[in-house]
Amino acid sequence: MKILVVGSGGREHALAWKLAQSPRIQLVYVAPGNGGTATDERLRNVPISDPKVLAEFAVREGIAFTVVGPEAPLAAGIVNLFRARGLKIFGPSREAAQLESSKDFAKAFMKRHQIPTADYETFSDPVLAHAYIDARGAPIVIKADGLAAGKGVVVAMSLEEAHGAVDMMLADNKLGDAGARVVIEEFLHGEEASFIVMVDGKNVLPLASSQDHKRLQDNDQGPNTGGMGAYSPAPIVTPQVHARVMREIIMPTVRGMETDGIRYTGFLYAGLMIDPQGNIKTLEFNCRMGDPETQPIMTRLKGDFSKVVEHAIAGTLDQVELDWDRRYALGVVLAAHGYPDTPRKGDRISDIPAETANTVTFHAGTQLEDGVLSVTGGRVLCVVGLDDTVRGAQSAAYATVNQIHFDGMQYRHDIGFRAMARKPEQS
Ligand code: AMP
Ligand code: GLY
Repeated sequence: MKILVVGSGGREHALAWKLAQSPRIQLVYVAPGNGGTATDERLRNVPISDPKVLAEFAVREGIAFTVVGPEAPLAAGIVNLFRARGLKIFGPSREAAQLESSKDFAKAFMKRHQIPTADYETFSDPVLAHAYIDARGAPIVIKADGLAAGKGVVVAMSLEEAHGAVDMMLADNKLGDAGARVVIEEFLHGEEASFIVMVDGKNVLPLASSQDHKRLQDNDQGPNTGGMGAYSPAPIVTPQVHARVMREIIMPTVRGMETDGIRYTGFLYAGLMIDPQGNIKTLEFNCRMGDPETQPIMTRLKGDFSKVVEHAIAGTLDQVELDWDRRYALGVVLAAHGYPDTPRKGDRISDIPAETANTVTFHAGTQLEDGVLSVTGGRVLCVVGLDDTVRGAQSAAYATVNQIHFDGMQYRHDIGFRAMARKPEQS
């Protein structure tokens, strides 16, 4: 069997790495892939990004199924296109992907289906938006309606910052069409967790819980990023929290989409805020797996993932049970100089240790050209360590991080600190 993974990040490297372990799979194509997927002999990069050309490639190569990593091709309708050509693909349709591609769609959906989330209003008129902010006060959160590659959310601690965000999006059009409408919502307190499930239209299969670290620097300082590290499981997602999230958020979302006439298929990621009283609210939906959450999650998943994806495509996820490595997996992201605003390209990467039983290094913004591995994007590598304890997983990951070198390398030293502050509980 030959299969195709669409994307070029650490998430796609981890998905391809896991799928390639299946004895049934001869080759995993990754489009366009990165320097890491170029190095693994079970994987092969395909320099195609246009969904139409990819569909032709899938027909020509007899691809058994395709898995899509990032949101952009999903929002552009790659699933609709593949299905129209009779190709098997796992992901949401363009319509279903609106849960991520339009914050207004997602908020209106949650309100309609009584799914817990922050109070909000949507604006396209800056005058009304400014007035709303003055009436509500700070802290307050301003979100561009459309996809903005991680730059669309401003958590404003002051009124000044909030007004500035509205001007940036609605008046100065800094985010283009994505910022032509904004959602302004209530600031939520608590601890975040990532809750990711697979959906086949009807059945839901939860993956292991995880937690991301969004800020650039230690102790959650500095700007927001796509994610500087993640671990799985997340101790905050206790069995009680898990059951509530399924009952109050995930199942009403899948059923609600069905009621609204948009069957949801694909990975579904609910970003959660859990407050000290144990109330759970949905911060956002993503119509894909998380990056870097995928990297620790995939290293813990046992068994043949290709069979799971086939069940998901066939609508028979109710026949699947997942088996997890009991250990913690903890991933540390190594980012380029200047990330997140102006990542520098071209730095040469050296000394990445080979995979062992308790460490794996996934690539993201890397390329391999003429035998030279170099930086091509903001998040460059994600080093995952595994161990029975969070501390042990952290030590394993950082022992590998310390061997890797590229100029300007930035990373956090405290990935996993929240889990270590908490008494261990199983998720
Ligand atoms: P989002 O893309 O909507 O998840 O927002 C990105 C990040 O902004 C989240 O991971 C949170 O850290 C933060 N955030 C978003 N919405 C809120 C909110 N209502 N209250 C507090 N923080 C938020
Ligand atoms: N790590 C957060 C995300 O993938 O959206």
